[in-house]
Amino acid sequence: MAQQVRGVIARAKGEPVRIETVTVPDPGPGEAVVKVQACGVCHTDLHYREGGINDDFPFLLGHEAAGVVETVGEGVTEVAPGDFVVLNWRAVCGQCRACLRGRPQYCFDTHNARQKMTLADGTELTPALGIGAFAEKTLVAAGQCTKVDPAASPAAAGLLGCGVMAGIGAAINTGGVGRGDSVAVIGCGGVGNAAVVGARLAGAAKIIAVDVDDRKLETARGLGATHTVNSRSTDPVEAVREATGGFGADVVIEAVGRPETYEQSFYARDLAGTVVLVGVPTPDMRIDLPLLDVFGRGGALKSSWYGDCLPSRDFPMLIDLYRQGRLDLDAFVTETIALDEVEKAFERMHHGDVLRSVVVF
Ligand SMILES: NC(=O)c1ccc[n+]([C@@H]2O[C@H](COP(=O)([O-])OP(=O)(O)OC[C@H]3O[C@@H](n4cnc5c(N)ncnc54)[C@H](O)[C@@H]3O)[C@@H](O)[C@H]2O)c1
Ligand SMILES: [Zn+2]
Ligand SMILES: [Zn+2]
Repeated sequence: MAQQVRGVIARAKGEPVRIETVTVPDPGPGEAVVKVQACGVCHTDLHYREGGINDDFPFLLGHEAAGVVETVGEGVTEVAPGDFVVLNWRAVCGQCRACLRGRPQYCFDTHNARQKMTLADGTELTPALGIGAFAEKTLVAAGQCTKVDPAASPAAAGLLGCGVMAGIGAAINTGGVGRGDSVAVIGCGGVGNAAVVGARLAGAAKIIAVDVDDRKLETARGLGATHTVNSRSTDPVEAVREATGGFGADVVIEAVGRPETYEQSFYARDLAGTVVLVGVPTPDMRIDLPLLDVFGRGGALKSSWYGDCLPSRDFPMLIDLYRQGRLDLDAFVTETIALDEVEKAFERMHHGDVLRSVVVF
C-alpha cells in the first residue's frame, strides 16, 4: 500500500522550501523503497530551488543519502529488504553504447524509478537527481541502491552519494592522480576538499588548495593540503607555479564552476598536465582562450561527472577505507540537522559556513 511520509518540497523558483506530505507508492518492477537515515545538503539542491537545473517544479529535494531498503519490487535481485545502502544518481543501464564498450562510468542512459511520488492532491513530484531523499522514505530504481558495510555511520556514508564522491573521483578517476604528482584544487567546498582527500589517497606529493575563504583553506590543510592560497589576495596561477618549481601542477581540479577559475586552472597546469572541471557552470557562462595555448600547452582538458564513479566499485571500497581510518568522511559533516532545517542549511551554505549540513532521521 502507498505510504504517506514527510518530505522537503520546492514549489516555485526562489521560494523557501517547506515540509509537505508525500505519497510514496509501493515499489514496482525494478524499484525499491528506502527508509532514509541521513541526507546531506548539496549545492545542487539549492540550484534546483533556484530554478537553475530545470523548471519541473515541484521538486522533492535531497540526493546525498544513505538508508535501509524497506521493500523491493518484482525482479529485484541486487538488493533486499534490510540492506544498508548509499543512493546513487547514476544507475547504469548496461545496454547503451558506453556500457557496451565496457565504460559504464560514462553510461548515457542512467535510470530512475518509473513510478512517481506525489503530493497529497496527486501532483507529481520531480525528485532531485532522481532520488528525493529529504523524505522519511523514497522510491528509487533498485540500481540506485549500492550496498555498503552497515557499520558505517549513515551521515558519513551518505556523502559518498554526491559531493564527496564527485571530488574524490575527480582526482582519482578523472584526473588519474598518481604517486608523486602535484595537484592544485581551486574551490575547496565539500567537493574541492574531497578532491584534496582524493589526491592524498592517490599519493600526490604536493596538494595546493586555493579558495577565497580562509576557513575552507584551514579545513583543506587538515585534510592533506600541503600549500594553501587565498586567491582574493594572491594570484593563484603564480602561487601554484611557485609551489611547483615554476612549472605548474600536473593536475588542476576546478571545483567552483566559473570561467575565471577555469582559466586559472588552465594556466596553473604544467605542460602536458590535466585540467578537471568538476564545478557545474550555468548556461550563460563562456570561456575565451587562445587556441594556440590550448594546443601549445598539450595535455588534457576533462570534465568529471559524479567523479566518473562506478557506484558498485567505488562506494564499498571508499566505505572500507573510511572504516579503516584512512578516509575521514566525518570531517565533511559540519553539522547534523532535522528535516525542517533544510532552508536554514541553504542559508549557511550560501555564507560558506559549512562543508556539509546533514539531515538525520
Ligand atoms: N561534477 C559533478 O558531478 C558535481 C557533483 C556535485 C557538485 N558539483 C559542483 O561542484 C561545485 C562545488 O560544489 P560544493 O558543494 O563544494 O559547493 P560549495 O559552495 O561548498 O563550495 C564552493 C567553494 O568555492 C569557493 N569559491 C567561490 N568562488 C571562488 C573563486 N573565485 N575562487 C576560488 N574559490 C572560490 C567557495 O569559497 C567555496 O569554498 C558546484 O558547482 C557544484 O554544483 C559537481
Ligand atoms: Zn548505459
Ligand atoms: Zn549533489
